[in-house]
Amino acid sequence: MTRPFPPTRRALALCCSLATLLLGAGPVGRRLDNGLARTPPMGWNSWNHFGCNVSEQLIRETADAMASSGMRDAGYKYLVIDDCWEVARDANGTLVADSVRFSHGIRALADYVHSRGLKFGIYTDAGTQTCQGRPATLDREVQDARTFASWGVDYVKEDWCHARGLDARTQYAKFRDALAQSGRPIVFSICEWGSNQPWEWAPGIGNLWRTTDDIEDTWPSMLSNLDQSAQHAGVAGPGAWNDPDMLEVGNGRMSDAEYRAHFSLWAIEAAPLIAGNDVRTMSDATKTILLNAEVIAVDQDSSGVQGILVSSGPPELQIWAKPLADGSRAVALLNRSAAPARIQANFRRAGITADSATVRDLWAHADLGTFAREFAATVPPHDVVMVRMTPVRR
Ligand code: GLA
Repeated sequence: MTRPFPPTRRALALCCSLATLLLGAGPVGRRLDNGLARTPPMGWNSWNHFGCNVSEQLIRETADAMASSGMRDAGYKYLVIDDCWEVARDANGTLVADSVRFSHGIRALADYVHSRGLKFGIYTDAGTQTCQGRPATLDREVQDARTFASWGVDYVKEDWCHARGLDARTQYAKFRDALAQSGRPIVFSICEWGSNQPWEWAPGIGNLWRTTDDIEDTWPSMLSNLDQSAQHAGVAGPGAWNDPDMLEVGNGRMSDAEYRAHFSLWAIEAAPLIAGNDVRTMSDATKTILLNAEVIAVDQDSSGVQGILVSSGPPELQIWAKPLADGSRAVALLNRSAAPARIQANFRRAGITADSATVRDLWAHADLGTFAREFAATVPPHDVVMVRMTPVRR
C-alpha cells in the first residue's frame, strides 16, 4: 500500500488527528469543551499595529471599519483590545480602565462593538503585572472573570509576564474555571509563548494557546513561527488551536507576496486569523489578502485538522497540505528562497490517493483542470501558490 504521507513524526501527528476525526475518540476528549471556537477564532487585535496607543475612539473606528470593509462578514468577529487599556484597581479591587483614553468605560465600548455585529475581547495577564506594567490577574481570577462578564466581554487573552515562580498550567486552569463560573461564554486565549510546553496541557484549558514568541513583521519571523507551530499539529482540533501569533498582513514591512504566503500558511495550519493591521486605512492589496474567502474557508474547514509540511525536497521549496472535510486537500507550494522556483506537488505526498485530481487556484480563483499524479507550478521568490486538490474517483 502506498502511504499518503512519508512516515515522519509530523505525518503521524496528522494521522492521529484524522483518526480522531473519524473515530470521535482520543485527544478530542481532552480538549476544552466550552462550546466555543469550533473553528479557529477570527478577529482583530490592537497590539501588532498600535501597541499601547489604544483608545475608545480607535476601537470604535475599527469596529466601523470591520463592518464596512467586509471583514466582519468574512468571519472576523472578535475585536480585541490588547495591553494598556487598564491602569488601576478601585477600592473594591475591580480593574479600572484608563479614564482619558476610555472615558465612557469598557462596558459602553463593548456595547458599541456589539452594536456593529461584532464580539468584544480584552487582555489581561496571569502574573502580578501585564507586560506593559499594568495591573494583572494573579489571585483575582474570579473577580476579573466576573468583571469581564459584566462588561459583555466575549474573548480574553491572558499573557504571562511577571509570572516568575508560577506554574502555567495551574494558573491558566484557575482562569479557565473562573471564566466558566462567570456564566458568560468567553473564548480563552492562552499567551505564554510556548514557554511551558502548552501543547501538552493547554488543549484542555484554553481555546487557543501561543506556540511561539511574538511575531515580527518580517519574513524570517513569520517562517520561524510557522515552523514552530507545525511541530504540534496533532493536538489541534475543534475548540482548541495552536496559535502561531496574530497576523502582520498589511503592516508594511513585508511584500504583498510575503503577506499572501503568511496568510495562506496560517490557513493551512488552522491558525487563529487575528488581523493586526490598521483596518481603517488598509490598501486594496491588503483587503484582497485578508478577505480571500477561499483561503479563509481552508482555515475554517469543519474538520479542524491542522495541515502539515509534507515535502522532503530542497529545504527552501516546500509543500504544505491540509485535509478538508469534503475529502479534498488544501495545498500550499511555498518558495522560501530568493529566486523563482518550480515546485512539484506529488498527489500521494499531499494525501490524495486517487491517480488524478482537479486543481483550483485559491488566489487566482480559477479552476486549473484535471491533473495526473502531480501538480507543479513556478512560484515567485518569497511567495506561495495555493490550490485545492479534489481527487477524481472512478
Ligand atoms: C506580550 C504578548 C503580545 C502582547 C504584549 C502586550 O508580548 O505576547 O502578544 O500582548 O505582551 O504587552
